[in-house]
Amino acid sequence: MNYLYLLPCIITSILASKVSQAPLLHDHDPSVSDFTTYQSEVSSSHSIRVKRQNATLCDTPVDQYTGWLDVGAKHLFFWYFKAENAASDNDDEPLALWLTGGPGGSSMLGMLQELGPCLINKHGNGTVYNPFGWNKETALIFVDQPAGVGFSYLDEGEPVPGDSFTSAADMHLFLQVFVSKVFPEHKNGPLVITGESYAGHYLPALGAQIVSQNILYPKQAQVPLKSLAIGNGYVSPLDTAYGYWETLCTTNPGVDKPIFNETICDIMATNLPRCIAVAKTCYDYPDPAICNAAAKVCWDGVIVFYDGESYAGGRNRFDITAPCDLDEFCYPETELVQDYLNLESSFNALGVPKNVRKFEVGSHAVEEAFQLTEDLEITMKPQLEYLLANQIDVLIYQGNLDLACNTAGAKRWTANMPWKGQSAFTSKELKPWKSTKDGKEVVAGTFKEVNVKMMDGDEKTTRFALVTVDGSGHMVPMDQPEISLDMLNRWLAGKSFD
Ligand SMILES: *[C@@H]1O[C@H](CO)[C@@H](O)[C@H](O)[C@H]1NC(C)=O
Ligand SMILES: *[C@@H]1O[C@H](CO)[C@@H](O)[C@H](O)[C@H]1NC(C)=O
Ligand SMILES: *[C@@H]1O[C@H](CO)[C@@H](O)[C@H](O)[C@H]1NC(C)=O
Repeated sequence: MNYLYLLPCIITSILASKVSQAPLLHDHDPSVSDFTTYQSEVSSSHSIRVKRQNATLCDTPVDQYTGWLDVGAKHLFFWYFKAENAASDNDDEPLALWLTGGPGGSSMLGMLQELGPCLINKHGNGTVYNPFGWNKETALIFVDQPAGVGFSYLDEGEPVPGDSFTSAADMHLFLQVFVSKVFPEHKNGPLVITGESYAGHYLPALGAQIVSQNILYPKQAQVPLKSLAIGNGYVSPLDTAYGYWETLCTTNPGVDKPIFNETICDIMATNLPRCIAVAKTCYDYPDPAICNAAAKVCWDGVIVFYDGESYAGGRNRFDITAPCDLDEFCYPETELVQDYLNLESSFNALGVPKNVRKFEVGSHAVEEAFQLTEDLEITMKPQLEYLLANQIDVLIYQGNLDLACNTAGAKRWTANMPWKGQSAFTSKELKPWKSTKDGKEVVAGTFKEVNVKMMDGDEKTTRFALVTVDGSGHMVPMDQPEISLDMLNRWLAGKSFD
C-alpha cells in the first residue's frame, strides 16, 4: 500500500524524481549585499532578507521582490508583487497571500501555472505576462511553506514541520515582520489569505493563529487579516470522500453522462457509510493511528476506483474531463515550472543559497512528515467557525469538474458547519452568477452567500460565500482565468455575486 495515495485531495510529489536536468551545483553563496535585511522587533531570531527583481525573471510591469524570512533555523522563501492599479501610498494598501497545497507543494506552482503576474512559457525557459494575474487590485505574495518546500529550507538537524499548525505559527511571524517592517504600506491591510487544495488546511490554521495572536498580544504588530478565500480546499476530508459518489456517478459536475457506470457506483455507494463512520471517529479522536486507519477504509472502499488509476496516461483527479499527462500533477506545465526555476540564471537572480541544491515543486520530506501526524485527516471546520465568530469573512470557491477536492463535498461541509449563519446559509438555494469571458456575458457558475452580524453592539456583518465555477477543475485560475479574476476582485471589493 502506497500511503501517498491514501488521501483524496493531496498533490503528491513524485515529479521531483523526473526532473530532466542534473542538480545544479552552487559552490558559493551569492553576494549577501544584494539583499536588504529587516529585523523583527518581536524576536531577535526573526528577520527578512529582501532583494528587488525585474521583468527578466518574471514578465510583469510591477515592482517585484524576492527573499527569505529567517525564523531561527527555518528559512521561508517569498516572491512579492505590487498591485497593477495601486490603491494608495498610505498604510492601507491591500495585500493577498497565496499558498499552494500539497502538503509539500510549492507556491511557485500557483504563481507560474495559475494566477501569478507572469506565467511559465511553453518552453520552460522564460515567462509571459498574465493579463489575468491576481495582482490587479491588490499586492500579491507567494510563500513556499512549510519550511522545506520549494525554495524554503531548514538548517541541518532542524525537524521538518509535520502539521498545519507549526507552519501557521511560522507564517504568522512572517506576516508580522512583513507588514510592520518590510512593506509597512500593508500595515492596516486589508489582508486576504488565499490558496488551493491542501491550503484548505493551511489557511484556517493560519487565520486562527493570526486572530488569536492579535488578541493575545495587542501591543505587538497586528496582522490585518480581513478574509480567507479557499479554492477547492481540503477542509473536511470526510465530506470530500462523500462527494466522490456524486462527482463520479451523476452529471452534477457539468458532464453529459456520469464518469462511472452503475456497477462501480453501486460498490462505492455500499462502502461509503462505513468510510464516513470511521472518518468521523478520526474527527472525534484525532489520533494518527485512528486517522490513518480511517483514510485506508475510505481509500479501499471509495477512492481507489478513480484515484488508483490516476497517473500519466490514466485518470485526472483534478478534472474528471481532462487527460493526465504527468504522474501526480497531471499537467505538463508543472514540469516546465520546475525546469525554469532550476535554470542557473533563475538561481543567480533569486540569490538561492547553497542549502537549496535544486528546486522541487513538491517536497517528499514535508509530505512524509505530515503522514506521521493526524493533520491529513482532520477537519478544519472548527478553525473556520472561530474565524467567522471573530468577524473574518470566508469565501469558498470551487471548480466543478474537480474530484480531488470536489464541489459536492464542499456543499456538504459548508452546510453542516455549525455557526451563527448556518441556518440562514442552508435556507438559501445556489443561484447562477454571471461574469464576462472573451467579451461576452456568461453564466460562470452558482453562488450563495450570507452576511451575518456576529457580535452584539457591532454593526459589522461577516460574509460567508460559496461560489462554484463551471468548466473548471481543481485549479480555477488556470482553467477559468478571466472569471476567477472577476470573482477575486468582487470579493476584495465586497461586491455581491448577484
Ligand atoms: C526558449 O526556448 C526556445 C525553443 O528552444 C528558444 O527559441 C528561445 O530562444 C528560448 N528563450 C530563451 C529566453 O532562452
Ligand atoms: C463498469 O466499469 C468497469 C471499470 O471501467 C468495467 O470493468 C466494467 O466492465 C463496466 N461494467 C459495465 C456493465 O459496463
Ligand atoms: C534584471 O536582473 C538581472 C538579474 O537579476 C540582471 O542581470 C539584469 O541586468 C536586470 N535588468 C535590468 C533591466 O535591470
